[in-house]
Amino acid sequence: MNPGVVKLQDLQKEIYGQVAEVIDQHERGIKPEDDSHATIFHSLLDSGLPDEEKALKRLGMDGFSLIRAGTESVSSTMSILTYHVLSNPHILRKLRKELETVFPDPAVLPSCAELETLPYLTGVVQEGLRLSYGAGHRLQRIAPNDVLQYKGWAIPPGTSTGMTNFHVHNNPEIFPDPKTFNPERWIENPRLDKYLLSFSKGTRNCVGLNLAYEEFYMSTAGIFRRLAMELFETDDSDVEYQYDNYTPKARLDSKGVRVFVK
Ligand code: HEM
Repeated sequence: MNPGVVKLQDLQKEIYGQVAEVIDQHERGIKPEDDSHATIFHSLLDSGLPDEEKALKRLGMDGFSLIRAGTESVSSTMSILTYHVLSNPHILRKLRKELETVFPDPAVLPSCAELETLPYLTGVVQEGLRLSYGAGHRLQRIAPNDVLQYKGWAIPPGTSTGMTNFHVHNNPEIFPDPKTFNPERWIENPRLDKYLLSFSKGTRNCVGLNLAYEEFYMSTAGIFRRLAMELFETDDSDVEYQYDNYTPKARLDSKGVRVFVK
């Protein structure tokens, strides 16, 4: 078996083990020490869901989905966003200035709702998503029974269709000067989100996208307001898309985006 698959199975076993522990504690009436130690699984077990949806098999699979779909995707976007902010001092200055308006005391992080009102921060988050692409390849969709009408084209039932985010996100007619990380383009035209495909679109788009946005707003604000950082031995080749590992990846020998926290 491919050694990578074994690692994946080990991860799955570890997650099932952790979920089993939560179920066991829940059955024995042991509560987490305080609310901050409660997990999504504590809430599911306390809920009115039918028993089969609280079983280890189901919750373990949920845990696996959360970790697989919700960690690398977010960290990859945050790395790319961090790289572009740190390599453009004027963007960093502007972002910090805006953050200080709602975040005067670095010890007190504002709510996500407050952060979402900030236009420049929003532009930074959207540019991070645009240049990290979401999925590297087309996510195919097939209409099994219907003829899809697209402009002058009639696409027969059963045909696989898809778009490549990279080409849309780098289309200069939609995003002029597309290689440039430019938060202002989102202030000038917030409806560009129509063309932001990182989370896909439609009924099977990312179910975690609101959680992901919350993570981006809170982390971007927290990191850039609280820390002074500079890039360490990192350049464009550490963020430019070269390989499709589902999540787009830079050159294979890249050590990733590295920073000094000053
Ligand atoms: C930058 C962050 C993220 C990106 C770019 C992203 C992207 C995507 C995309 C493109 C899909 C559709 C996949 C397909 O068509 O086959 C998807 C689905 C999904 N995502 Fe995300 N995602 C992100 C964060 C998250 C988070 C934080 C979670 C949960 C913790 C999550 C959970 C899921 C799940 C469960 C699905 C499957 C939904 C379904 O099939 O109905 N994602 N995501």
